[in-house]
Amino acid sequence: MIETTKVLPRVLEARAVTKTYRSTQAVDGVDLDISPGELVGLLGPNGAGKSTFVKIACGLVRPSTGSLSVCQAPAGSVSARRSIGYLAELFRFPPWLRADEVMALHQRLSGSDGGAEERMRLLDRVGLAGVSTRRIDAMSKGMQQRLGLAQSLIGDPRLLLLDEPTSALDPAGRRLVRELLIELRNAGVSVLLNSHLLTEIEPICDRVLILVKGKVLASGSPAEMTAGDGVEIETEAGLRIFPGVSKQEVPALVSKLIAEGRSIYSVTPGRQTLEQIYLDAVKGEMG
Ligand SMILES: Nc1ncnc2c1ncn2[C@@H]1O[C@H](COP(=O)(O)OP(=O)(O)OP(=O)(O)O)[C@@H](O)[C@H]1O
Ligand SMILES: [Mg+2]
Repeated sequence: MIETTKVLPRVLEARAVTKTYRSTQAVDGVDLDISPGELVGLLGPNGAGKSTFVKIACGLVRPSTGSLSVCQAPAGSVSARRSIGYLAELFRFPPWLRADEVMALHQRLSGSDGGAEERMRLLDRVGLAGVSTRRIDAMSKGMQQRLGLAQSLIGDPRLLLLDEPTSALDPAGRRLVRELLIELRNAGVSVLLNSHLLTEIEPICDRVLILVKGKVLASGSPAEMTAGDGVEIETEAGLRIFPGVSKQEVPALVSKLIAEGRSIYSVTPGRQTLEQIYLDAVKGEMG
């Protein structure tokens, strides 16, 4: 019997994407593939090119060179735009509209026929069901950001592009977004998420890219990126770190400690935090 592994088509494919604004190289040769149900975090300092890259994926900005497709269609084409949901980092809804009117407007813009059921379901999902008739100018900025998230979900997009979706949210709102993203991923939706909140990115992203001056400086799963060398061993004498010990050397080290009469409570591989990885990557390039 011939075994075939089904390769799912990519939801996003970026090849050597660059964007130059006059003298600024905002994006500089970015390659990125996103598979269905993959949650990818884009990290980087202010001005690194994160929003520009997301805008290229949306079709709002044209790349100077390179190519980007969404669900096999060129970014910006009608077909590509039908597959995405987008929450911009700096957005303003018309202040005189009510929350459900903003939703209805975006349903019309995106051609969704979900009607009142979709509007209420999504407002409810972001905790705004009780204020669906409140005007934008009477909503707090966190409420507006929740509304922004709800509108990005209109029409069941296959790829969500979220540019700092939690910057205005309280801790409960941030948790809600985390839960929502995990739920979407489980439903096969792909997400590209820009954020400065490393502690938020680390637990939920399948893959992280660190962008500095438009270039990808590091990428990988949070587990891969934070795996360090060394080992932490807890004995009755407390926690001791053995730096520079490889995985292969751990059994011999544990045997030696037992021979010395130590009781071993736990053995944990040494880890770096994503924050440290990020700061080290960025430090070398900024200046
Ligand atoms: N429309 C524009 N015209 C000229 N330069 C621009 C334009 N948009 C962005 N830039 C420049 O491109 C670079 C990347 O900007 P971008 O907004 O993509 O950064 P970012 O990583 O999203 O930063 P932040 O974390 O502050 O949101 C910056 O130097 C910025 O000044
Ligand atoms: Mg930005």
